Amino acid sequence: MRLLITGLNGFVAGSIVAHARKNWEVHGVDIFKTVGLPSDIHAYQLDLMDGDRLSLLFNQIKPDAVIHTAAIANIDVCENNKELAWKVNVEITQTIAELCKQYGAKMIVCSTDTVFSGTKGFYNEEDEPHAVNYYAKTKIEAERVVLDASSINIVARLSLVIGLPVLGKGNSFLADTIEKLKNGESVIFPENEIRTPVDVITVGSALSELAGCNFGGIVHLSGNTRINRYLMAVRIAEMLGVNPGLVQSTDSNAMEGRAPRPNDASMKNDLAKKLLGTPMRSLNEGLDLTLNFKMEEL
Ligand SMILES: NC(=O)c1ccc[n+]([C@@H]2O[C@H](COP(=O)([O-])OP(=O)(O)OC[C@H]3O[C@@H](n4cnc5c(N)ncnc54)[C@H](OP(=O)(O)O)[C@@H]3O)[C@@H](O)[C@H]2O)c1
Repeated sequence: MRLLITGLNGFVAGSIVAHARKNWEVHGVDIFKTVGLPSDIHAYQLDLMDGDRLSLLFNQIKPDAVIHTAAIANIDVCENNKELAWKVNVEITQTIAELCKQYGAKMIVCSTDTVFSGTKGFYNEEDEPHAVNYYAKTKIEAERVVLDASSINIVARLSLVIGLPVLGKGNSFLADTIEKLKNGESVIFPENEIRTPVDVITVGSALSELAGCNFGGIVHLSGNTRINRYLMAVRIAEMLGVNPGLVQSTDSNAMEGRAPRPNDASMKNDLAKKLLGTPMRSLNEGLDLTLNFKMEEL
């Protein structure tokens, strides 16, 4: 069975690769060349906006499943580059959904907890999304496109993903935070943003599992701990044995020049627990897992 992963150089994709290679022939694509991959992974360099080359790639691989992680995942970059954000987050997703339909492949798209307005918290899969920024707007449309294309497709909404990159550099705030804290530098985290953080190892395992399961629809991949981002960073400092006083709090919605953030985007994970063998974990369990993860032990 062949699995195609988009956004191969990304933070989440690295963990999917590590887990999926046990059960799948893994192919991955990214806009820049991918280095440092295990030799069994087939890597391709391609701008996914090039529909003709993407179509040729599908014809070459003929994937059974596609996990679409590629996106502009930075909220402020999306807010300041709306046209590009729409092209990457919506139009590429549309093209991939059409190709998946053509080749009979199951598609799993990575969406986000920030599709919710953040006024309620503890959202489940039936709750109605409501965008407070442009990134969320693109992700809500991407969700619709994927679900409309086929009843076997999956929208996996990820909570804030914490962890160290498994492959490559990845876009990990934890790595930067650890470096700063260990150097005695202060770090600033928003107290107004309540989340259910999920570790990148759990996410990679869950997404690999979803690629091979019969479920179609929306599922939330979130951790068991509901916490604001400031207290989460305090917890990280405590785990590292460094001074938690280095962590300072802020209100992200009072910071000038930043796109609005949902306050409480915490999500329930009961469906994921029912569907998956991969356990959903507490913040401390997830941190412990990602800080000590060794790919060769899988
Ligand atoms: N990380 C989180 O906390 C989080 C939380 C909720 C949801 N998500 C979602 O989960 C997914 C993965 O997130 P992530 O943190 O792994 O993101 P990431 O590290 O930014 O990875 C995305 C990858 O996609 C690539 N890409 C972007 N545009 C492309 C294009 N036109 N053609 C080919 N490749 C392209 C990027 O390349 P360049 O970077 O080189 O442009 C990058 O390597 C995203 O859809 C994100 O919205 C993430």
